[in-house]
Amino acid sequence: MSYVIAVANQKGGVGKTTTAINLAASLAATRRRVLLVDLDAQGNATMGVGVDKGAVARTVRDVLLEESPIREVIVDLPSLGLSLLPANGDMTEAEIKLRDMAVGDFALKTALADVASDFDYVVLDCPPALSKLTVNALVAADGVLIPMQCEYYALEGLSALMDTIQKIRRVINPRLEVEGLLRTMYDPRNNLAIDVSNQLIQHFGDKVYRTLVPRNVRLAEAPSHGLPAMVYDPASAGAKAYLALAGEVLRRHDGGQMRLSA
Ligand SMILES: Nc1ncnc2c1ncn2[C@@H]1O[C@H](COP(=O)(O)OP(=O)(O)OP(=O)(O)O)[C@@H](O)[C@H]1O
Ligand SMILES: [Mg+2]
Repeated sequence: MSYVIAVANQKGGVGKTTTAINLAASLAATRRRVLLVDLDAQGNATMGVGVDKGAVARTVRDVLLEESPIREVIVDLPSLGLSLLPANGDMTEAEIKLRDMAVGDFALKTALADVASDFDYVVLDCPPALSKLTVNALVAADGVLIPMQCEYYALEGLSALMDTIQKIRRVINPRLEVEGLLRTMYDPRNNLAIDVSNQLIQHFGDKVYRTLVPRNVRLAEAPSHGLPAMVYDPASAGAKAYLALAGEVLRRHDGGQMRLSA
């Protein structure tokens, strides 16, 4: 059985895709079988692992609309040791059609059930909205990982996301947990970031990952090379932070065995 982590925050540009790609790659580096699912029409996660979103014949759209079996759409990326369910602009249409389909909020969950024994971890990169696609992700997920920038408005947006999570837990998916809150693009010289970070710890205690992802130019550059940071520059602070995050995730779910590949 795979453990499904939705990387979600309706606020744009907080580091969801960077987190999804680099967490997936770091888990894969510890020899876990990992599927990265791109649920965003922007296709950033797809491009970020070196797959041309314009060139893929089929995408997660075809899976959600029950037009293709998931196994036929998954792309294996042997050099990264992980697999990808790609997305591109066609997702916009999927979002609308899903509203009229009986499978509706369960489309992703249903599709992932077919490959549950093929992967240890499934990482879902959500779009920046509390949309039908994010709902699909939260219905399919065991845990939600919430990346956030420690800014003034960060906490405000968080309550809308927490409400949605509560609702989905009550109505559809009682096992859904907040897996953790991840502080991204962190600048320890910024007093506001320190304040917001302290508030987060006060409110959410050990739900806040100990790992802090620093603002790191390597993390921003890596996607333009189609590589996770740990492949693009394994010595970078960004790559190390995401490896540490993977360690925290493994400790919570997997007894913490870090089986680093040679
Ligand atoms: N720790 C970091 N240090 C430096 N740059 C970062 C870091 N994390 C993310 N970025 C950059 O910030 C931008 C937004 O990050 P990202 O695309 O991961 O956010 P997102 O939440 O997925 O955005 P969207 O809401 O549009 O999907 C990108 O250009 C990314 O390269
Ligand atoms: Mg994104």
